Amino acid sequence: MSSRAPHRSYPLNAWYMACWADDLAGDRLLARTLLDRPIILFRDAQGAPAALNDMCPHRFAPLSRGRVQDGVVQCGYHGLRFDASGACLGNASTYSRFPPDTRVASYRLVERHRAIWIWPGDGGQANPDLIPRLSRIPEAGGHENLGNYLHVQGNWLLETDNIMDLTHVHYLHDGSLGNESMRAGDMRVSEKGGVIRAELWMPDTICPFGPLEGQLCDQWNNVEWHAPSAMIIDFGAVLPGEPPVQDEGGYAFHIFTPETERTTHYFFGSSGSYAEKDAWRPRMIGELQNRIFLEEDNPMIEAIQDRMAGRDFWDMHPAILSSDAAAIRVRRKIAKLCREEGRAAG
Ligand code: FES
Ligand SMILES: [Fe+2]
Repeated sequence: MSSRAPHRSYPLNAWYMACWADDLAGDRLLARTLLDRPIILFRDAQGAPAALNDMCPHRFAPLSRGRVQDGVVQCGYHGLRFDASGACLGNASTYSRFPPDTRVASYRLVERHRAIWIWPGDGGQANPDLIPRLSRIPEAGGHENLGNYLHVQGNWLLETDNIMDLTHVHYLHDGSLGNESMRAGDMRVSEKGGVIRAELWMPDTICPFGPLEGQLCDQWNNVEWHAPSAMIIDFGAVLPGEPPVQDEGGYAFHIFTPETERTTHYFFGSSGSYAEKDAWRPRMIGELQNRIFLEEDNPMIEAIQDRMAGRDFWDMHPAILSSDAAAIRVRRKIAKLCREEGRAAG
């Protein structure tokens, strides 16, 4: 009988966002399925992030049913303890000697850009230089719009398609982030150093929100993709003919991590760090993003997944528009990474 490996849409040798850095505070034990792997995240005694397989090697209890104390995880069943490297430290019972090589699988992590990044594949290839460059995420210190999270019932590539084609804003978000006037514009797609960028320039269109709401403006909505799944949007609006100067707070982040083939962790936020008197601003943007993604984007993504009913995107022969150029480039790059991994694994 021949067996075929199940189709996997994501590469494993890549950095994915596991959680926000602030999600791991004190002795918190965060259980999260990432790339179909049940994982626990916590901080060791020095405060460095750690990730272990969420299964005790003794009787296979989920370690997430235990607790973290002084940077060490203690299984909730018979008390075996594991350090951040996954090595077993035994338990407090005098009659529980354990085999010396007892351990739990661990994952490579890096804390950067206010987030924890995980490398689910071959740890020997985990090069931190490959972490998406999100330098617009402010360092800690002010009032910011970060730390947002949504769980989506949709494959992560449907989310990537959504962000890489911002013409959807003019239809799906008509009346909130977009409007009819924005449908007349110009799109350019480019690629440099593995980063794919789609620029949408919309001169003489009505500004849908913000200080210039309702006025005739020159607007832009550009997006940049960093492998495998981090996207930065730079957006703005100025009065017609004025230089298109980018606002410090005009960058939005969309980062997707596959939970499974059918579900996605959606992390988002925006740039800018504000003083107390302007604290309303990042709060307002965060609330707006939350509401729109929850009420407008996610229901569409989930409905699409429903209609696709488990079939492969390309097998369904989608009608490709010129505005799909950036999203299709991303899909091709991801498919290539998966193919290369498949070949390397024989
Ligand atoms: S199952 Fe974890 S210590 Fe027994
Ligand atoms: Fe959207």
